[in-house]
Amino acid sequence: MKITIARLGGDGIGPEVAAAASEILEASLESHGRSITWLDAPIGGAAIDECGDPFPDVTRSAVDRADAVFLGAVGGPKWDDPTSPVRPEQGLLRLRSHLGVFANLRPIRIEPTLMPMCPLRPEIVEGTDLVIVRELTGGVYFGAKRLDGDRAVDECVYTEAEVERIARVAFDLARRRSGRVCSVDKANVLETSRLWRRVVTRVQAEEYPDVRLEHQLVDSMAMHVLTRPRDFDVVLTENMFGDILSDEASVLAGSLGMLPSASIGGAGRGTGGGMYEPCHGSAPDIAGRGVANPYAAILSMAMLLEHSLGLVDAAADVRDAVSGSLQNGVATPDIGGSASTREVTAAVLARLRGRVVS
Ligand code: NAD
Ligand code: IPM
Ligand code: MN
Repeated sequence: MKITIARLGGDGIGPEVAAAASEILEASLESHGRSITWLDAPIGGAAIDECGDPFPDVTRSAVDRADAVFLGAVGGPKWDDPTSPVRPEQGLLRLRSHLGVFANLRPIRIEPTLMPMCPLRPEIVEGTDLVIVRELTGGVYFGAKRLDGDRAVDECVYTEAEVERIARVAFDLARRRSGRVCSVDKANVLETSRLWRRVVTRVQAEEYPDVRLEHQLVDSMAMHVLTRPRDFDVVLTENMFGDILSDEASVLAGSLGMLPSASIGGAGRGTGGGMYEPCHGSAPDIAGRGVANPYAAILSMAMLLEHSLGLVDAAADVRDAVSGSLQNGVATPDIGGSASTREVTAAVLARLRGRVVS
């Protein structure tokens, strides 16, 4: 059976980690008797340079024909002029909106071998296993924006329906995990957060009485997530808070280069579409040097195997191959090693193909 994946490398280290992760996906699917057709298309700064548009029609058409989408990263200093009418990041936001992927799952697990890379004490961090469920197509990212002379406005909007559907994703996930959800908001200040809290509370009471729900304000949560991370399982939050909390929580995992993500909920073709991308950005400071950590991108491919293709065993094999390579000390500089992107990829591939026994 053939699977079609739209591959949007983007900018900076995006294409580097996308190439690495593609090799892993190909090997994984090959061993399950399937093959891939890649639809490569531009996004972000690369698309501005090529087509004058960060999410051009060619890319829209590629994602519409695909079973799932993989994205590297977008953005970089070349396109950072604040007065520019087009920005790479707009391409990513329009893509998410186009696909309708409102639920962004960001799992944070700690590989025991990476514990020395975490600046926190091991007794605080050991055993952390949480998932941030970030609302992805609403909030301040998508509200009206205006610049009137010396005054700028970014509206933050949430509807009850938007909160209901993301809350259900979090509660369903909690049922498959430890049955706990922590919803994060700023209900002491924001109207959108009060609506958020009210709706999440109602959905839990009416539909998920078996799931334990707690609420935290985002400012103190930013502290709790680093001082008592093991107390959390599913962390449900809105778009901007989820963006910030997930990069913060990457400290627990040793590097931003370790965090994968899956964006689901759209009405795409196949098994429901789905978009997969590492949580990190285009890392302009290391782009082009061949040292980008590809583990986040590779683990995002594992999420693609599981969520879009239903290949749970194949996903587990990829995760095992990643753990095995890390245990063997195969690491890029951000996680304390000296391996290149290619060397990490080769090590994971060798394990996946059963050529390394240990
Ligand atoms: P960033 O995530 O690109 O980098 C932050 C730091 O983490 C840098 O020091 C970088 O070298 C390091 N890092 C990130 N990923 C790494 C990896 N895989 N391996 C090794 N080190 C890694 O964040 P930033 O510097 O704030 O943003 C740079 C650009 O990326 C901006 O234009 C921003 O808009 C964009 N961005 C894009 C995405 C995305 O496409 N999903 C996400 C975040 C930021
Ligand atoms: C992310 C990024 C994006 C976001 C940017 C590049 C638009 O930071 O995917 O985490 O804020 O969602
Ligand atoms: Mn981010």
